[in-house]
Amino acid sequence: MSITILGIESSCDDTSASILRDGVIFSNIIASQDVHMEYGGVVPELASRAHQKNIIPVVHQAIEKAGIQANEIDAVAFTRGPGLLGSLMVGTSFAKGFALSQNIPLIEVNHLQAHILAHFIDDVNNKYEHPEFPFLALLVSGGNSQIIVVKDYLTMEVIGETIDDAAGEAFDKCAKVMGLPYPGGPIIDSNAKNGNPHAFEFNRPRIAGLNYSFSGLKTSFLYFVRDRIKENPNFIQENRNDLCASLQYTIVEILMNKVKRAVKETGIKQVAIAGGVSANSGLQDALREAEANKNWKVFIPQLGYSLDNGAMVAITGYFKFLKNEFVGQETAPFARMTI
Ligand code: KG4
Repeated sequence: MSITILGIESSCDDTSASILRDGVIFSNIIASQDVHMEYGGVVPELASRAHQKNIIPVVHQAIEKAGIQANEIDAVAFTRGPGLLGSLMVGTSFAKGFALSQNIPLIEVNHLQAHILAHFIDDVNNKYEHPEFPFLALLVSGGNSQIIVVKDYLTMEVIGETIDDAAGEAFDKCAKVMGLPYPGGPIIDSNAKNGNPHAFEFNRPRIAGLNYSFSGLKTSFLYFVRDRIKENPNFIQENRNDLCASLQYTIVEILMNKVKRAVKETGIKQVAIAGGVSANSGLQDALREAEANKNWKVFIPQLGYSLDNGAMVAITGYFKFLKNEFVGQETAPFARMTI
C-alpha cells in the first residue's frame, strides 16, 4: 500500500508544507518571513501572524506541486514543538482542522528529531545515501547544540548539549555586534571565506564532558570588539572578514572538539549534522577533513532539507505512521519539547 503524508512545519519563522509518498518527497514549499530582519531577531507575535497568512497558500502549493488531490493524503504530520508557542499553534490548529476535514490520522512530530531524520529523505530526482544505525548526530541550530546517539528512527539519546547559548545564537549575536543583519550566521560564513581565521583569538570554554557553552565566547567577542573600537572607530569595517573568519574558526573548533570526543567515547564513526548551522562551510570542511583523516563517514544534509522545512516533518511522520503512532484532536503544541 502506498502511503502519502502531508508535513507541516511552523515552529519558528518559516511556514512550510511538504508532500511525501513512501519516503520520497514530491514537494517542499517554504515561505520565509522577511518581516524580522529589521528587528535583529525573530519577533514571536509577527511570526504567528505571518504563519497565519501563509499556511493555507503554502499547503495549497505543496499539494498542487505534488500533482495530487487533498483526498489522496493518508495522514497529516505537524511540528508539535519545540519552538515559539504562537507559531506552533498555527501549524497545529491547521493540521487538526485538515485531519478532521479529511477524516485522516494526525501525527505529532518533534522538530529536533525531524532535523535528524531529514537524512533519510529521498526526492523525486535523487536517491541519497542514508546513515546506518547507530550514528551520531550533531544538531546545531539557532536554538540547539546537541550531540545525539541515534539508535533507530525514533530512538535517540542526547549525550551532550549546550548549557547556555546555541551555536547559531553565537553566530547571530556576534553578527549583531558587527552590525550585520539577522540571521548573521550565513553572512559570517560568506565573509569568512575572504578572511584570515587566525587573525584574532577568542576565549574557548572549558566545559567538562560532551556539553557545550557559547555564552562566554559571545561576551569575549563583544568586549574584544568594543575595546578595539575605542582605539579605532573603523575597526569593524576594516577587519570584518578577518573577524568573521576568526569567529567561525573558533565556533567550528569548539563544535568539532566535542564531536571528536563523542566518537572516541562511543566508538561510533558515522556522524550526521543537522539544523541551520549544518549549512556552515567551515563546519562542513572540518567534518570532511575528519572523514579523510580519521576514517569517519560524514552525512551533510541537502540545503533544502537542512533549514526548517516541511519535508523533514513528513519523513518523521512517515516513520511514525508505520508504527501507528497517532495523536487525537486534543493534542496541543509544546514549546519546550526535548528529544
Ligand atoms: O535550524 P534553523 O533554520 O532554525 C532554528 O534554529 O530553529 O537554524 C537557524 C540558525 C540561525 O542561527 C542561522 O544564523 C544559522 O542557523 N545558520 C548558519 C548558516 N546558515 C544558517 N550559521 C552559520 N553558517 C551558516 N551558513
